Amino acid sequence: MKLPRYGQGTWNMGDERSRRAEELAALREGIALGLALIDTAEMYGDGRSESLVGEAIAGMRDEVYLVTKVLPSNASRKGVARSCEASLKRLGTDRVELYLLHWSGSHPLEETVRGFEDLLAAGKIRSWGVSNLDLPEMKQLLRVSGASACATNQVLYNLSRRGIEFDLLPWSRKRRVPIMAYSPIEQGRILGNTVLEQVARRFGATPAQVALAWVLRQEGLVAIPKAGTVAHVRENRKALQLRLDAQALAELDKAFPPPRGPGPLEMI
Ligand SMILES: NC(=O)c1ccc[n+]([C@@H]2O[C@H](COP(=O)([O-])OP(=O)(O)OC[C@H]3O[C@@H](n4cnc5c(N)ncnc54)[C@H](OP(=O)(O)O)[C@@H]3O)[C@@H](O)[C@H]2O)c1
Repeated sequence: MKLPRYGQGTWNMGDERSRRAEELAALREGIALGLALIDTAEMYGDGRSESLVGEAIAGMRDEVYLVTKVLPSNASRKGVARSCEASLKRLGTDRVELYLLHWSGSHPLEETVRGFEDLLAAGKIRSWGVSNLDLPEMKQLLRVSGASACATNQVLYNLSRRGIEFDLLPWSRKRRVPIMAYSPIEQGRILGNTVLEQVARRFGATPAQVALAWVLRQEGLVAIPKAGTVAHVRENRKALQLRLDAQALAELDKAFPPPRGPGPLEMI
């Protein structure tokens, strides 16, 4: 299965009983609208997000591209196997399409890659990747044998967090490692920006749609917004049809300037 360009995030989903029915409906609406990729992690709600995803995809498993993540503290060769087994159980499935190292920790990357390869051989994962690795860490990763199979680096990227444009993004493009942009609407914090609102008005769109279209216009980028309501899922999905013009991009560049030099990789 090819890496889809647009997915659904699930951080903080499954935490509140009172929101459960709505969150399940939102995820199912997303699948119905063709947003096949669902991103979760063993960390999210200590497994509660994975359990919610498992419930949402029941009966639709083959339509979904599942992504989950192993915590760095579990990312030894054996730990990866244990964590994956527990994630599969919560997700109610026998495999995930993509398994990520959530961020780099004390276990050597080589160990984690060997763990991923064991899982590939056992058919429990279809591909593997990483998250929150900065450029030096990516270079280090690609020195590990077998690491050219790395399918993505999932990092923080949105209008207000453009640091990767300076080095990590061009480097990743050159090496054909797709970037998966997390928090693509900055958890809602950028949506009240005046310029973003003005651009949105001109296109008859919403600020969230413009922020997502801005990420999605770039080749090799995947966006995984989290939407906990059916209304937000429907609104965000329309970003796929929105084409920003040169004027809009220039206005957004002015309001959210690109980086002028290297900086540390930001994380949320
Ligand atoms: N690898 C990592 O370290 C890492 C870190 C952070 C996130 N992630 C992944 O990336 C996903 C997305 O990031 P995120 O959840 O941090 O932030 P996000 O997707 O940028 O924003 C989610 C927030 O925006 C709201 N929202 C969604 N659509 C909206 C709309 N159309 N209008 C107004 N508000 C809207 C959501 O509210 P409602 O819930 O009410 O819709 C939610 O509060 C996560 O869920 C997770 O899967 C990965």
